[in-house]
Amino acid sequence: MSATAQQSAPRPADIRAMKGGTPIVSLTAYTTPMARMMDAHCDFVLVGDSVGMVLHGMPSTLGVTMEMMIMHGQAVARGLNRAMLVIDMPFGSYEEEPRQAMCSAARIMRETGAAAVKLEGGVHMADTIRFLSARGVPVMAHIGLTPQAINTLGGYKVQGRGAGAKKLIEDARAVADAGAFAVVLEKLPAGLADQITADIAIPTIGIGASPGCDGQVLVVDDMLGLFSDFTPKFVKRYAQLGTDGKAAIAAYAAEVRARKFPAAGHVFADEAPNPEKARNA
Ligand code: KIV
Repeated sequence: MSATAQQSAPRPADIRAMKGGTPIVSLTAYTTPMARMMDAHCDFVLVGDSVGMVLHGMPSTLGVTMEMMIMHGQAVARGLNRAMLVIDMPFGSYEEEPRQAMCSAARIMRETGAAAVKLEGGVHMADTIRFLSARGVPVMAHIGLTPQAINTLGGYKVQGRGAGAKKLIEDARAVADAGAFAVVLEKLPAGLADQITADIAIPTIGIGASPGCDGQVLVVDDMLGLFSDFTPKFVKRYAQLGTDGKAAIAAYAAEVRARKFPAAGHVFADEAPNPEKARNA
């Protein structure tokens, strides 16, 4: 991410100002080539801690470290010219108290150039969001299904059904009042997502929420169909790269075994061509 490009990228205040307007577009990215592919199309790109599950094969996001977030954050930053960069704060890096969160957020922003961090939690994280926002750290909040709390939530279930709706409305109000510039709503009933979107003054970014949210985010590997096994209900596959990739690898393996690859056009002659002749050829 060049200095010039950073100046032209939207800032958290610009994303905040998109409330109620054209929907905000976002995807996760973990590598430079993916970031390059989405840069022209996304308002912000999120280096999610889903990187642990998606790229590193971890069973949950709980094992993700600061070092991983920073390394992937730097890789994504190199691929962005236009979209804003947001980076997830990993489990254990911010929950103890606001000062711990400040140290972690400052390190992430300093070492990656990210414009903002994202953290999970509602009412119980409001003091931390207020502390960070007052000290120059723009915070995107994340409520509903918060994967870092998977062990206390009891699984990747829809949140906010029935009596749970009241708690999510309180969470949304708390993070907005504390100064978050946007809030991710993950896996909650569409009607509740619409209610929260109408109720708070900051943009809601839905994932498994509602088309009525102020924006949408998806895990890029999910929407590209890179996984051929489980696809969550809230994901639409816009491509089938997993199936195509498997077929390509099988074709390669078969051609290697049949000595069809490499073919004549993929190998080098014993003698380097005479540069004079090559020029005249
Ligand atoms: O880690 C992640 O990828 C996320 C998004 C799915 C919102 O938090």
